[in-house]
Amino acid sequence: MTAPVVTVRVPAKVNVQLAVGPLRRDGFHDLANVFLAVGLYDEVTVTPLASGMGDPTADSLRLTVEGPDAEHVPLDASNLAARAAIALAGRHGIAPDVHIHIAKDIPVAGGMAGGSADAAGALLACDTLWGIGSTREELLAICAELGSDVPFSLVGGAALGRGRGEILTPLEVGGTFHWVFALADGGLSTPAVYAECDRLRADTRPLSSPGGPPVPEAAAAPALLEALRTGDPIALASALTNDLQPAALSLRPSLAATLHTGTQAGALASLVSGSGPTCAFLAKDAESATSLAAALTASGTCRAARVTSAPARGATVL
Ligand code: C5P
Repeated sequence: MTAPVVTVRVPAKVNVQLAVGPLRRDGFHDLANVFLAVGLYDEVTVTPLASGMGDPTADSLRLTVEGPDAEHVPLDASNLAARAAIALAGRHGIAPDVHIHIAKDIPVAGGMAGGSADAAGALLACDTLWGIGSTREELLAICAELGSDVPFSLVGGAALGRGRGEILTPLEVGGTFHWVFALADGGLSTPAVYAECDRLRADTRPLSSPGGPPVPEAAAAPALLEALRTGDPIALASALTNDLQPAALSLRPSLAATLHTGTQAGALASLVSGSGPTCAFLAKDAESATSLAAALTASGTCRAARVTSAPARGATVL
C-alpha cells in the first residue's frame, strides 16, 4: 500500500498598508495591517513516517526543504512548519510522526511571510493527513499562537489584521493587481526591523516616552480599502504605505536604489514588502509588470525580479 501524501499550496503576502502603532507590554506592536496574498507559493507535502505505522524506533518528525533559498531555512525546532505539526499533534494527543517537505519559492526572511506560509501549509496538510477535520476557527487559533502573520497565510485573499496582525477581517478585492517583487541577497530579521522602527521613532519623537506624545494608534486608511474594493491600481498606488520601510532602509540602505529603479522604470508605486528586504512594485497591467521586472533585473539592484498577480487563494490542499 502506498503511504498517503498531502500537499498544500500556500501564498506569499505583501502588506499594502502596514501601520505600526504603539509598542505593547508583550513586546509586540498594535497594527493596522492590510495583507494581500500574492501568487508566489510554497508547497508543503506531508507523509507519515514509519513510527506512525508502528515502528517506535523511527524519527518522530523529519523536515526537508528544496528550492533556491533552501540552505537558509532553519531545520531545527525553530522552523514554524515543524512547530505547527507539533502543536496540532499535541492538541490531539497524537505523535507528530510525519515527514514535512517544503518546496520553497517564497524568499526566506524576505518580508513576504514565507515562514508563516509554511506553518499554515503544514498545519492544514497535517490536519488533512491525520483526518482531524479541525474547523477553520480551530486552525486559526493555532495559527495565531505560531505567529502574527500565520492566520493570514491560511485564509489568503485580502484582509485587515488588527491586534498584532492576527485578528483578521476579510476584505473585498474588486480586480486583479499586477506586482513585481525584487528579491534581495540575504534576509532581514523581523524583530530587528521592529526594534529599528522603535529606535528611529525615539530619535524623531524624543518626547514619545515616557510622558510625551504617544505613538498614534494604527488605523486602516479608508482610501486604501476603497482602492482594493474597486480594483483600481492607480488609487491603490497612491494609498500604499509601510511604517516599517524607514527601518528596513536604515538597516539595508541599498534598498533605496532598488526602489528608485522601479519608480524610474514605470512602477505605479514602489515600497518595501513588510519588514523587507524584498521590494514590491505595483504595475499598471501585466505587460508593464513584465517590462518593469526586466528593468529591475538589468539594473543589478536586486538578485532577481518576479512577476505575479494578486489576490491569491490562501492555503489550499492540492
Ligand atoms: O509574531 P511573529 O513571531 O511573526 O513576530 C516576530 C517578531 O516581530 C516579534 O517578536 C516582534 O519583535 C515583532 N512584531 C512586533 N509587532 C507585531 C508583530 C511582530 O513587534 N505586531
